[in-house]
Amino acid sequence: MEIKSEILYNERLSAGYYKLGLSWKAAKVVAGHFVMLRVSDGLDPLLRRPFGIYRAIKGRGVELLYRVVGKGTEILSNKRPGERLGILGPLGNGFTEPEKGRKIIMLTGGMGIVPLYMLAESIESGTLIFGARSRKETFLLKDFRKFALKIKTATEDGSVGRKGLATDLLEEEITPEAIVYACGPMGMLKAAAGIAMNSGAKCMVSLERSMACGIGVCLGCAVKAKPHKDEKENRLYKMVCSDGPVFDSEDIDWDVL
Ligand SMILES: Cc1cc2nc3c(=O)[nH]c(=O)nc-3n(C[C@H](O)[C@H](O)[C@H](O)COP(=O)(O)OP(=O)(O)OC[C@H]3O[C@@H](n4cnc5c(N)ncnc54)[C@H](O)[C@@H]3O)c2cc1C
Ligand code: FES
Repeated sequence: MEIKSEILYNERLSAGYYKLGLSWKAAKVVAGHFVMLRVSDGLDPLLRRPFGIYRAIKGRGVELLYRVVGKGTEILSNKRPGERLGILGPLGNGFTEPEKGRKIIMLTGGMGIVPLYMLAESIESGTLIFGARSRKETFLLKDFRKFALKIKTATEDGSVGRKGLATDLLEEEITPEAIVYACGPMGMLKAAAGIAMNSGAKCMVSLERSMACGIGVCLGCAVKAKPHKDEKENRLYKMVCSDGPVFDSEDIDWDVL
């Protein structure tokens, strides 16, 4: 059920990037959960927009991070503290905790970093590989520097870290006992799934699809699934919103994405 939440803050972090504090206290939020936000009380845009939950603000609500890409996020960026937004959530399955002894590697790029904050909070050590076009996007790493994480960066123009792709760094870092938690552009996720498969590591991917309902009704966010060893799980398509957004990379048919 959609409820109204008050905007606590809506601050510009960098050109086109904002953090949004909402007075919304969900019963239980785990890393990888998302919400559907109604950004306008009018008919345009009609549909709610999906956003990952970045972190809980103790006793007050939750914080989201978003990038302005179109009409809905543009409207959102003009909202002021005290205004109210319709919110539906927490939605999706979220990341599962890693088994003991697994080497944890987080792989991300751009806003894909959002669901990894709460994961980073919950682990003792690990590596975060961040891919960006240039230095401009690396401000997103600031909050992660307080965690016991080895942070490795790749930029396409070489302005910070390694010149190249984040998946180049993943190839160097991955070992068979690793678990990769990946969220970012589809090309990155597909490459990560291949690298993990070749090295024998486990890989969990958080997928993004355009979402109309967010609750498994409209079937608009379907992805083709691979045959599953468990009969009950064996379906041709899975819904990113209600079966995911987090999937074992081996369960996705990457050839049709
Ligand atoms: C589960 C989930 C979690 C998300 N979490 C975040 C988050 O934490 N922060 C954040 O900034 N964004 C997040 N997104 C993406 C966000 O939902 C879209 O950027 C937003 O809906 C765009 O709305 P708009 O009206 O501004 O743009 P629109 O006018 O709807 O679209 C503008 C452009 O963006 C593209 N676009 C829209 N949605 C997506 C998408 N999901 N993936 C790729 N391209 C898209 C469109 O194709 C179009 O080119 C998430 C998406 C999903 C599915
Ligand atoms: S968004 Fe409607 S089924 Fe997933």
